[in-house]
Amino acid sequence: MTAWPYPRWIAHRGAGNFAPENTLGAFRLGAAHGYTMFECDVKLSADGVPLLLHDSTLERTTDGRGTAGQRPWAELAALDAGSWHSNAFAGERLPSLEAVADCCLAQGWLLNIEIKPTPGTGALTGRVVADAVARLWRNARVMPLLSSFDVAALLAARAAQPQLPRGLLLSRLPEDWLATAEKATCVAVICQHALWTDAVLAQAKAARLRTLSYTVNDAATAKRLLAMGLDALITDRIDLFDPNA
Ligand code: G3P
Ligand code: MG
Repeated sequence: MTAWPYPRWIAHRGAGNFAPENTLGAFRLGAAHGYTMFECDVKLSADGVPLLLHDSTLERTTDGRGTAGQRPWAELAALDAGSWHSNAFAGERLPSLEAVADCCLAQGWLLNIEIKPTPGTGALTGRVVADAVARLWRNARVMPLLSSFDVAALLAARAAQPQLPRGLLLSRLPEDWLATAEKATCVAVICQHALWTDAVLAQAKAARLRTLSYTVNDAATAKRLLAMGLDALITDRIDLFDPNA
């Protein structure tokens, strides 16, 4: 099985709901709670700059409007991505992946980069993000774990930078889930927590896949999954789970 350099606990979108998701302020807050690895969502601006943003559109988490992937990076970089959350984070920016790399490398933080393409741009996003990660983390000891629900993105990431570790995200279990993970030569599968049963875990382990779960926000679910032997859990509840316990 692939060596596993990642911690057991990963803070979802930086700090769950306790800071504006996918911002450097969120990573700082997650780190203040003891987290050393963060999940984040990455897509492309119209001019091909990888940036952190969950939704395709800007309305929910910025003061902008419309589809992020149709705006140039210079416009996106000027948006306020913090005021929607709270006054304390007013003026927080949408970070570029490059800014996130600089920060994480300086602080020794690890990343799970979810490739979250604007619809219709899966392969392009997978390739550009993988190339950017390979360049930005070229001197790093531990590379970010790339993941995606979008199989075209994972396949393009593999074609561009086959050495980067990949995880298949699963919100349900289609019949071919294992074949898909193997086709993209994934090192991990990252399932919605209710999907993890002993049978699914046994299948994943037999295929030598690492096993992760999202988004684990209550103690009973965490206990069940850790007792089963999952490798890592992604959580919003940085207030509830001590990543060093
Ligand atoms: O990467 C795990 C999780 O983030 C997937 O769902 O919608 O929160 O990006 P979502
Ligand atoms: Mg995500």
